[in-house]
Amino acid sequence: MFHPSIRRQRGDSPLHVQLYDRIRQAILTGTLPPGARLPSARAMAQEACVARGTVDVAYARLTVEGFLVTRGAAGTFVTGALPLPPRGASLAPVQPQRAEPRAREALRPFRIGIPAVAAFPVSTWSRVLGRHSRRARAADLAYSDSCGDSTLREAIAAHLAVSRGVITHADQVVITSGFHGALGLMAQALAKPGDQAWIEDPGYFRAHSALLLAGLRLAAVPVDAEGIDVARGVALAPNARFAFVTPSHQMPLGMALSLPRRLALLAWARSSGAWIVEDDYDGEYQYASTPLPALKSLDDRGLVLYAGTFSKSMFPTLRLGFLVVPDKAREPLARVANLLHPAPPLALQRAAADFLGEGHFARHVRRMRTLYAERRAALLRALDELGSPYLQIEHATSGLHLLVRLTGVRDDAVVAHAEALGLAPGSLSLHQASPAKERLDGLLLGFAALPASRARDAVQRLARAIELARQHRGKET
Ligand SMILES: Cc1ncc(COP(=O)(O)O)c(C=O)c1O
Repeated sequence: MFHPSIRRQRGDSPLHVQLYDRIRQAILTGTLPPGARLPSARAMAQEACVARGTVDVAYARLTVEGFLVTRGAAGTFVTGALPLPPRGASLAPVQPQRAEPRAREALRPFRIGIPAVAAFPVSTWSRVLGRHSRRARAADLAYSDSCGDSTLREAIAAHLAVSRGVITHADQVVITSGFHGALGLMAQALAKPGDQAWIEDPGYFRAHSALLLAGLRLAAVPVDAEGIDVARGVALAPNARFAFVTPSHQMPLGMALSLPRRLALLAWARSSGAWIVEDDYDGEYQYASTPLPALKSLDDRGLVLYAGTFSKSMFPTLRLGFLVVPDKAREPLARVANLLHPAPPLALQRAAADFLGEGHFARHVRRMRTLYAERRAALLRALDELGSPYLQIEHATSGLHLLVRLTGVRDDAVVAHAEALGLAPGSLSLHQASPAKERLDGLLLGFAALPASRARDAVQRLARAIELARQHRGKET
């Protein structure tokens, strides 16, 4: 979710004008309400990945035009008395732009979905969290808004506007217990037992299990080089009620959903009345190109429920995530949140709001992007050096894992031997939703938590696991 979406390409307006436009739009649409404090110029420069001077120019222009006021050391604020439309008024159309590991085992080499938890700024986080626990007033100890505290919802809305091209109001943001909390909330609020849902095949198997548990019928839609094959989905299940997709970084194959497919998916949802659920679980980690903004940024009809999580950008046990919900889904979701899925603890939410607002989040994600690029490169080097004839490396340039295809050996056999050798690769075939299809054997190698200095040793152990799986297979046949 946090990557530079303000980029200058040929023909684009200068960066300070783009930033000025984004902030101005956020003020006019109420995403940044009157009186809201803006991040310091330094924090904003980090968040938008532009020079500090660029932010100074944009802030100065907005100040001259009366959108912002500066109050010395207190910071820069949205002018208090702007006669803006009421919050929740309809927005201008968005311009298209471009089975659980136990604690000790969670950090085994190659475990997928685990960020570099050892590099998380624990002292900064505990300082911010401590502040909120210590300063809690009596009212903060009573019940809080079950859709989430307004400070965090505002911080998320402001962050999405700058970093993901998603223009939303804080009132359209619902705080959840991570993506899995969001799944439960959506299933109970928007689905009836027996409703059909498109899922990606291969796709995120834990989400598939969760949806089955919630009583949905799944239509496994194949994924090709452009992402989910919308035409096949329409042929398979034209009246499905949901499509669950990972457009920024397909889980597990790694490609981004192409623009024609994005448009086709939106067109189908519009005509069939289905909900699209966009799972943007690790969209901030792109290493080579400027990523496409979220699918949600193309949604001018309120068809997409955008799900974000702090599990990869902060740490998984935080259990904090959010949904950006179209207006017509807000009421049923709020009712179910109130009765079955109230928002996570208030101090945690307020601390997360400050972590974002004070620039710690942007700084951490930027540092992690650099670290993960190094770790990914080290793993690729080690795999290249190994030069195994049984492994084909896929070079997707985003996310927290690499995919290697296997030939001549089954992935579940390799995974079993790898586990005995202290590793924890994921298996590609486990992510296949329809067993009838041709088997896909491959390994998902998480690299974010694997220090570069340990990559070669881990790859050698993996090579040993492949050898053992092959020998074992030889004995069986
Ligand atoms: C595809 C996908 N979505 C979402 C998540 C995050 O889930 P949560 O926010 O519940 O930790 C993951 C974690 O690995 C994932 O792989």
